[in-house]
Amino acid sequence: MRDDTIMVIGAGQMGSGIAQVCAQAGYSVYMYDVSEDQIQKGMNRISDRLVKQAEKGKMPHHDVKDIYLRLSPSDSLNDAGEAFLIIEAAVERMDVKKDIFKRLDEKTKDKAVLASNTSSLPITELASVTKKPQNVIGMHFMNPVPVMQLVEVIRGLETSDQTFDTVVATAEKLKKVPVEVHDFPGFISNRILMPMINEAVFALYEGVAEKESIDTIMKLGMNHPMGPLALADLIGLDTCLYIMETLHKGFGDDKYRPCPLLRQYVSAGRLGKKTGKGFYTYDSK
Ligand SMILES: NC(=O)c1ccc[n+]([C@@H]2O[C@H](COP(=O)([O-])OP(=O)(O)OC[C@H]3O[C@@H](n4cnc5c(N)ncnc54)[C@H](O)[C@@H]3O)[C@@H](O)[C@H]2O)c1
Repeated sequence: MRDDTIMVIGAGQMGSGIAQVCAQAGYSVYMYDVSEDQIQKGMNRISDRLVKQAEKGKMPHHDVKDIYLRLSPSDSLNDAGEAFLIIEAAVERMDVKKDIFKRLDEKTKDKAVLASNTSSLPITELASVTKKPQNVIGMHFMNPVPVMQLVEVIRGLETSDQTFDTVVATAEKLKKVPVEVHDFPGFISNRILMPMINEAVFALYEGVAEKESIDTIMKLGMNHPMGPLALADLIGLDTCLYIMETLHKGFGDDKYRPCPLLRQYVSAGRLGKKTGKGFYTYDSK
C-alpha cells in the first residue's frame, strides 16, 4: 500500500473529475471502470479539460503531461491493493456499490480507506458488506469536480476517526473544503437540492410553465447560477431519479415521490447532458 496512490472506481463524469483533481494534487491514480469505453472517454475528458486550462494560461503546458502521466487506466480491482484511498464513483445503485465494496474489502490492505461518492445511499449499509466498516466513509464531491469546492464527508455508524481524518486531509490536499455530515438519506446537499429539482419537474409535468421559464425564474428570481432543469440534465436524470427513490424509501414520506415525468425520461434513455438529451438537447455526448 502506498500513501501517494488513490484508486477511483467508475470513470463517468464524477469518477473522471475525481481522478483528475487527485492527479493534479500530485497523487498517482488508478481509474477503473467495468466499461473500457467509459475509461477511454474518461481519459479523453480529463485530457481535454487539462489542455483547455493550459490554453487559458491557468497552468503551464508541461504540467498537463505530468498530470496525465500520473493517471493509469485500470481494468482490475486488484490495483486497489496499492492504494491508501479508494473512491468509488460508480452508478448510484446500492446493489452495484455493495458488490464493489465487497470485492474491494478482499483486495485492499487493512488500513486502506474505502470511500463512496454516493449522492444519497446510506454509508452504514454499504459498510455492512465489508469486514472493516471502520474504514468506510462517504466522500461526496460536487459536479463538475474540478470546479466545485465542496466535499461532503459522511460518517457511517462505525466510521473511525482515523478514516475521517484521512479523508479530510486528502480533501484539503485536493484544495476542497470538507464539511462533515451524518448518515441520513441524501445527507444535506441532496436532501435539500433534489426535492427542489423534483418539484421543478412536477411544475413542468403539470404545465405550469415551459422549461425555459422555470429555469429563468430560478436564475433571475433566486439568483441560482443555473435553472433546476438544466442542473438536472448536468447531474444526469438517472442519478436524480435514484436519489429521489432513496429519499422516498429512506424517509417513507410521499413528499419525496419522484415525478412520473422524471421516471419516463429515464426509461426513454433521456439521461441529460451525458446522453445528449434530457430536458434540453446537447450537441455532443
Ligand atoms: N452527476 C452528479 O452530479 C453527481 C454529483 C455527486 C455525486 N454523484 C454520484 O457519483 C456516482 C457516479 O455518478 P456519475 O454522474 O459519474 O455517473 P455516470 O453515469 O457518468 O458514470 C457511472 C459510471 O459507473 C460505471 N459503472 C457501472 N457499474 C460499475 C461497476 N460495477 N464497477 C465500476 N464501474 C461501474 C459506468 O460504466 C459509468 O462509467 C453516483 O453514485 C452519483 O450519485 C453524481
